[in-house]
Order: sequence, then C-alpha cells, then structure tokens
Amino acid sequence: MDKIQINGGKRLRGEVTISGAKNAALPLIASSILVNGKSRFTNVPKLMDIASIQMLLEDLGASCNFENNTLTVDGSGINKIEAEYELVRKMRASILVLGPLVARFGHAKVSMPGGCAIGARPVNMHLSGLEALGAEISMDHGYIEAKADQLIGNEIYFDIPTVTGTENLMMAAVLAKGSSVLRNAAREPEIVCLANALIQMGAKISGAGTAIISIEGVEKLHPAQINVIPDRIEAGTFMVAAAATRGDVLIKGCIPDHIGGIINKLKATGATLDIGENQIRVQGGDIIKSIDIKTQPYPGFPTDMQAQFMAMMTIAKGNSMIHEAIFENRFIHANELLRMGADISISNGNYAMVRGIDRLQAAPVMASDLRASASLVIAGLIAQGTTVISRVYHMDRGYEGIEKKFSSLGADIQRIQ
Ligand code: EPZ
Repeated sequence: MDKIQINGGKRLRGEVTISGAKNAALPLIASSILVNGKSRFTNVPKLMDIASIQMLLEDLGASCNFENNTLTVDGSGINKIEAEYELVRKMRASILVLGPLVARFGHAKVSMPGGCAIGARPVNMHLSGLEALGAEISMDHGYIEAKADQLIGNEIYFDIPTVTGTENLMMAAVLAKGSSVLRNAAREPEIVCLANALIQMGAKISGAGTAIISIEGVEKLHPAQINVIPDRIEAGTFMVAAAATRGDVLIKGCIPDHIGGIINKLKATGATLDIGENQIRVQGGDIIKSIDIKTQPYPGFPTDMQAQFMAMMTIAKGNSMIHEAIFENRFIHANELLRMGADISISNGNYAMVRGIDRLQAAPVMASDLRASASLVIAGLIAQGTTVISRVYHMDRGYEGIEKKFSSLGADIQRIQ
C-alpha cells in the first residue's frame, strides 16, 4: 500500500490550481440517471470516489466515458435498479442514486450504506423524505427498497440540514407530480451546483442555496452539459497549509464566496489574505494565533476543514478549543497528532482543547479518513524530521494528485510504496 513521506520545515511558496469538487461531482453524476440520454460533466476531478460512482452507474447499465477530466454518462441504457453492496460499501455517497432511480423508474434497491470512521452516518432523513413523496420504503437483507408508481410532490422538513439528503430529495422531487418544498435544506454550494444542473436539464427549482427549496415537478428531463465547481475544501486545505508553514501561496481557480467561513478563521490566526475574483493569496504570519472553532452547516465553518485547522493549531501561540458539532467521531486524527508531540485533550467526544507547542516531531502516522489524511500532511509539513503517513488511499479518494501539488509548492514530499 502507498505511503506519503514528508521532510518537514519547508515554507510553501508558489501557486496551485484547485480541482473540481468531489462533493459537487458525485450528485451531478448521479443526476444523469434521471435523463434518457448522454449528459456531459466537465472539470471532474480524477479521484477514487469518481471511479467508484462511475462503476456503479455502469453496473446499472449506463455507459460512461472519462478522459481529460470530462465525464460523459448515457443514462438511456440503465436496465437495473439495484445498487450492489460490493459497490456501495466502497463509498457511502452511492446513496445518491436512490432518489434518481425511484424518480425515473419507480423502483430502487440500494444497499444500506454503513457508517464510516467519522460517524454512524444514518440516512433516515433521506428515507422519510422519499416516504413524504409517496415512496414505499422497506428494508430487505441490508438493502433499502423504495417503490412508487409516481412520486407526488409534498412538503419535506429536515430535522437538521443534510447535504446528500437535500440532494437526494431534490433529484426525486424534480420528476414528482406537483410541487414540493424542502425546508431546513442544506445550503452548501454543491447543492446550488446540482440545482443549476437540474434546471439546465429542464427542472423547475427555486431557492437552492437557501433553507427553503421549492420544486415544481416536470414530466421528463433532457441531457445537459455541466461544469463542476471548484473544490472549496481543497482550496481551504492549501490555504491552511500555506499559513501553517508560514509560506506565501496563490490558490487559483477557487471561488472565495464559497469559503467565507475558512477565510474568516484563517485571518483570525494572523495570516494575510489577498482575495481576488477567482483566487486567494495566503501569506503565513510569523506568529500563529490560537482560535476557537465550532463546525456548522454551510455557511458556517465546515466540518471538512476541522482536521486541517487542528493540525495548524498544534503550533499556535495559546490554546484553541475545537467543537466538532456535525459528526460524532471526527477527532481520530488527534490521536495521530499526539504521536507527533501535540498537546490535545478531548472531552465528551466532541470538544478538543489544543494547547500550542513550539514544534511537532515527525513520526510514522496512519490516515483514518479523507480529511484526517490532509491534516497529517499539514502536520508533516510543519514537523521536524521525516513523517511517513500510511493508508493514503483515504487521501486518494478526495484529493487529485495532492503530493504533486504540494511538491510544486516546494514541499519535500513523495509517495513511497
Ligand atoms: C456530506 O456528507 C459530505 N459528503 C461530507 O463530506 C461532509 O462532511 C458533510 O456533508 C457535512 O458537510 C458528500 O457530499 C458526498 P450530512 P453527508 O447528511 O451528506 C446527520 C468529505 O470529507 N444525518 O450533511 O453524509 C449526519 O449523521 C465528506 O468529503 C442524519 O442524522 O452529511 C450528520 O451528523 C465527509 N440523518 C449530519 O446529519 C440523515 O438522514 C450532517 O450530515 C442524514 C444525515
């Protein structure tokens, strides 16, 4: 299995271009199920998770072609409504085929996605939303079965904002009979990206990006060509790495409007940010100030950036309180940072007190999930000595060629067997 080796202490300098967003591409690709024709997605990142959902769609009968970050999906050949366990277990986001399959074919069987390292990841709101649209939901030997001759528009109220829940139900409601309103909907940019794609396919949606999304069902949708938005979490990851190494990096091809929560917190640590129309320059301050963080649904501070900030706070001046308020087990990276000499104490599961120290010491560490692996890369960049990170397949799920991008910024980083 691959590992990443980093000799720490280099300040990052130069410029890096952000790839398309994994969490925008996944629901977009799932939406091609709704269309009896060939849809085309550009600026798709070359990632394990994209390969996984492509495999799943091909297993359902769709034909796909991926080259030069462009993915075409022809949904006209879909002849199967069952998403197999072997494919779903590789990637929880496979649940995103449930809504489109029921909407177009009136029937779907999707393996219940298991939990993952960061939490139980239930899908109860996805299922209760489909029931509200008239689907009959049952469980059958680990599979969710959803049936509906015709989905009927309705009001759907989410107990808490759910990103893929909002996406799944948006994709179901666009072909329902009549109108639907999703209340307490997630407001992430990836939701807006999906809504714009569905509107280009002929759907009638208003309010995406706000907590109330209104949808008027239509008979059918037609193929479209969609450009995937840049990955705001990749952009944030490079912003934190630049500040933590006291470097000077220009992050190109990002959308500053999507990363207000990150910009706000990074400025508070003492970094200097020059914000352009589609780029941000980050210069690390000599002193990294400690800050408190609470993860929240968008536009709050994103949970997907918590691990990266924790790595940086290990060498801040003072103590930082990090409250992970979205997932119940998203501090696994803290144990690995402790191995590198960090001073972190965790109380009642979702509060981490990070007491700043002068320098981390390199050590062999293990990635546990996608964003934890990014946290360990940042830790390796600022630690004294050579850090080796194992289980980097977690990173390959969500970061396109990350070690090449970091080495182009002057990091001493390489992938080893
Ligand atoms: C999406 O996951 C992202 N994944 C996650 O990114 C991200 O961390 C998360 O949103 C939060 O921003 C994709 O978009 C593919 P949620 P999702 O439903 O949709 C609870 C990454 O690193 N909940 O918004 O699964 C849930 O347990 C990944 O790229 C229910 O209780 O997250 C969590 O506590 C990690 N019942 C909260 O809601 C449900 O039916 C928010 O989860 C659904 C969710």
